[in-house]
Amino acid sequence: MADKISVLIPEEEVNAKIQELGARISEDYAGKAVHLICILKGGVFFACELAKHITIPVSLDFMQVSSYGNATSSSGIVRIKKDLDDSMEGKEVVIVEDIIDSGRTLHYLIPVLKQRNPKSIRLCALLNKPDRREAEVQIDYLGFDIPDEFVVGYGLDYAQKYRNLPFIGVVEPDAAGEEAEAEPEKKGETVE
Ligand code: IMP
Ligand code: MG
Repeated sequence: MADKISVLIPEEEVNAKIQELGARISEDYAGKAVHLICILKGGVFFACELAKHITIPVSLDFMQVSSYGNATSSSGIVRIKKDLDDSMEGKEVVIVEDIIDSGRTLHYLIPVLKQRNPKSIRLCALLNKPDRREAEVQIDYLGFDIPDEFVVGYGLDYAQKYRNLPFIGVVEPDAAGEEAEAEPEKKGETVE
């Protein structure tokens, strides 16, 4: 059965916000170059769109992490599945992430990346769920605060589906309910 998705943030609003974030980053790093670190897979649509709206030189690198937990929550035990290709030494780094939920992933990852001697490191997230925060994370560039709902689209998935939706949507509770109830039993490693 196809899940029912309702629109939370329409495509035009997401795109306008990313354009705004790109302009802010371009202004804040004027005269410099910025090194974007995209957290796979969720951050990839956001990172590409953001990069298009940055007017200073941009380089891109990718990292994939996984955390032990169930499909909808992370435990904070983070494993680097794919490490960066390039050195971040001396670079003005901006981490690009789809969503900050419990905050555990980035709370772990940022200190690890700081040890690699970037010149600076900031975090840019498309979405934030402040009500879910369990570990402190400073978000320097934020698209939207959203309520505590499981969202999909613009890179975000539900069981690997819906990443390609051009808007931010919510899987209707009745459609998601059955699987969500069974979820706590199904602990394992999940890719972000
Ligand atoms: P954390 O709880 O802040 O560590 O969130 C880690 C990851 O969980 C995010 O990068 C997403 O990949 C995933 N995630 C959290 N909330 C959602 C959601 O509402 N939809 C899809 N993925 C989510
Ligand atoms: Mg993610």
